[in-house]
This record gives sequence, structure tokens and C-alpha cells, in this order.
Amino acid sequence: MLEAVMVNYSELEDELGDVLEKAMKYSGMTEECLARESGVSISKIKDAEDYRYDLTPGELRNLANVLKLNEVGLSALSGGRYPLPDFKGLPFELHTLAMPFSVGRVNAFLIAARGSPTGIMFDTGNGYGELMDAWPSSIREIAAIFLTHWDADHAGGLGELLKHNPDIPVYAPPGSSSGVALLSGGDSIRIQGFWIQAIDTRGHSERHISYHVRRESAADSGGVLVAGDLIFAGSVACGFHSPRELLSNVRRILVEMDGETVVAPGHGPLTTIENERRYNVFNY
Ligand SMILES: [Fe+2]
Repeated sequence: MLEAVMVNYSELEDELGDVLEKAMKYSGMTEECLARESGVSISKIKDAEDYRYDLTPGELRNLANVLKLNEVGLSALSGGRYPLPDFKGLPFELHTLAMPFSVGRVNAFLIAARGSPTGIMFDTGNGYGELMDAWPSSIREIAAIFLTHWDADHAGGLGELLKHNPDIPVYAPPGSSSGVALLSGGDSIRIQGFWIQAIDTRGHSERHISYHVRRESAADSGGVLVAGDLIFAGSVACGFHSPRELLSNVRRILVEMDGETVVAPGHGPLTTIENERRYNVFNY
């Protein structure tokens, strides 16, 4: 059983106003239409989108029903909080490199065997300087770089990182750079004693890959899902390419993956598959 710890808005990528706005956009519903269907006044809906919350439990329930959202997660967000699990120990090191970005943060990750100075890098942040500021002192070399997608906040540090380390192999979905090994969903790579499986998770962008990372010696454990711009603690990414594909990929992953899998999202805090099954606002 997971023990939840509550975090407040400052740590999350999305708060209530953000998820309501995304949910309306993804369902093609206007504020007028939502007000009519839910019985919540349009001024209260607009206030909520502007981060002023005055919604009763009954109104939150109605909004959740009409927008097909998870009522428990929505109610938690309305109180300015969201439950996150206490993480069980992973059989390897997972370093989060959190960098300031816009009003929140963007994450890159380094995964390494316990005590090893050699890490496998996932995404490269919004710039080389920001990446170096967040770099963990125990990691002194990189075995490979994997990109989830080519947006500047996830691949921005790549060029300069390669100037300093020209021989590092880079794996990514098709995008903007030459000299990169292109991956598709279903591809699997073994490196430094890890299995890294590419999962096609398009939706935020047309070409987007999430990575399921497991230690070879513990291949039956949940491991880590490096999720990029797919799922966030409590919410989902913007479906710039296709909200429908984004949501169906999120729901498929929440159904199919082991609940103990740690989710390492491109923005906001770590979570787990089981936690998001229970509370993610978009898991209806
Ligand atoms: Fe992003």
C-alpha cells in the first residue's frame, strides 16, 4: 500500500486552473457549454481558470462528471495539494536535474548503477549552463543520451554537451539533428547493464518517445518510466499534436505498466504509475 505525502502547488506542473483549461480544450467544450452542462456559473469557471477557486464539493463533482475527470484528484487540486507516494528504493540511482523553466521547472535525468560515476542521460534541459548547474557531483561521464522529443526545453543543452563529449551516442525520435540513432516505439537497447525500451507516446508532439528503464538484474521490477511531455503528477502534457492520442497513450500506460514503476516526467515531481492510476485528474 502506498503512503501518500501531500505536496502543494508550488511543486506541481499544473494546478486546478490549468487542468480545467486543458480538459475543456481536449473535450472541445466552451466555458458556456461547461456552465450549462455542470450547473456551475460561468463566472466561477472563469475565476477557476484564473487560479481563483471558490468551488464547492458538489460543483467539483459536477465539473468532474461533465469533463470526465478523476474527482478525487480534482478535489485534491482544489485544496491546493496533491498526494504523492513515498518511493520505494529503486535498484539503481535516479538523479533528477531540475532546471527553472517558464513559471515551473523542466527535468532531465541521469540513471546510473549504484555508486557508478557513469550515467545514462535522458533529455538535456533547456540549456547547457542550466544543465551544469543541476549536475550531480557523483556522475563524471555519460554513456549515452536519450531524448524524449526535440522541444527546446528538452533538447536545448544537447549541442554544447556534444561539443564537450563528441563521442557519446545519442538516441532520439526523428527530429532535427544528424548523427543521431533514430528510435521507434518497441525498440530496445541494452547499455551499462540497463534495458531501455522505447515506447511511442506521441500526442504532445508528433514524434515523442518515453523510455522504460530497468536494471538487467532486476528486470522484473517496475523500474522507471522517463515520460517527457506525456504524463505529469496530477495532470498530462499539452496535446499540441493530438490531445486524443496523448490521452489514449496516458491511459494505456496507466493500465498496462506495473504500478510500482516510478514515473519521471519532463516537468514537475516524480510520481508512480499506481499513484497516477488513483489520482491523476485525467484518469477517469
Ligand atoms: Fe516540455
